[in-house]
Amino acid sequence: MTTSPTDTGVATTTAPAISLRGVSKVFSTSSGPVHALDDITLDIEPGSFVSLIGPSGCGKSTLLRVIGDLIDPSEGVVEVHGRSAAAARKARDYGMVFQQAGLMDWRTVRRNIELPLQVQGVGRDERRAKARQMLKLVKLEQFEHHRPRQLSGGMQQRVAIARALSFQPRVLLMDEPLGALDEMTREHMQRELLGIYQATGTTVVFVTHSVSEATFLSTDVIVMSPRPGRIAEHLKIDLPAYRNDETRISEQYFAEEAKVRASLHSVLDESRRAA
Ligand SMILES: Nc1ncnc2c1ncn2[C@@H]1O[C@H](COP(=O)(O)OP(=O)(O)OP(=O)(O)O)[C@@H](O)[C@H]1O
Ligand SMILES: [Mg+2]
Repeated sequence: MTTSPTDTGVATTTAPAISLRGVSKVFSTSSGPVHALDDITLDIEPGSFVSLIGPSGCGKSTLLRVIGDLIDPSEGVVEVHGRSAAAARKARDYGMVFQQAGLMDWRTVRRNIELPLQVQGVGRDERRAKARQMLKLVKLEQFEHHRPRQLSGGMQQRVAIARALSFQPRVLLMDEPLGALDEMTREHMQRELLGIYQATGTTVVFVTHSVSEATFLSTDVIVMSPRPGRIAEHLKIDLPAYRNDETRISEQYFAEEAKVRASLHSVLDESRRAA
């Protein structure tokens, strides 16, 4: 629970959208146990945009997968909107986007976006209208009848984002969704993503390797230490809620980016000293 004063001075409590308590994950492999996550405790407030950043192999994807109920933690408790991650998944609280778009090539672009709605039993006309609205959002209206293989990697990734958003999930889990895009498309998608995030109020957990991307998008940045993954620092990003290209060249943005970079570097220095 987070307690915050309101304008009237009366304290209110906000239940976290996602709550992790003492979460650890050990994978058993043929060459012995791999300790991927260690004692992660974290509250994510509703409507926040949280980026996970840290060196390769520090457990970012594992943490995202634990939150999304794709794997079980070895220890600890995960709650999403006050219920278990499994119950949240059943209730379709999650939209997920991974580095690979994972589209079905035997379906057209539009019918890929319709798939989650179809699974939910939404009628044909409604799902078609929704898919078209999503295609417009990711600026691919002209490609609704194409097959995914006829699209570039960046365009496929935009379809995957449209598909994840089609049913308005309360939580969007994204694992390096923009990693494969060229810089201009990536910046464009960052702006689109912010627009969608602001319009929908979705809680976002976002994995990235990019300090600038994490700073530009996030309300919170979680810096993770190398294996076993722990939370090294939880940074609040002090930027206005509305951000645009001007933001990227503001003093305040540079200061916040430097803060994230310094934290990440101190984690890397520490791990080098420990090695
Ligand atoms: N299914 C699995 N079985 C065994 N080990 C795994 C499995 N998934 C992840 N690991 C191990 O857990 C550790 C954390 O992996 P994870 O993929 O979460 O890292 P990451 O921070 O996402 O890395 P990257 O930035 O390279 O994507 C790694 O050592 C990885 O080898
Ligand atoms: Mg990963």
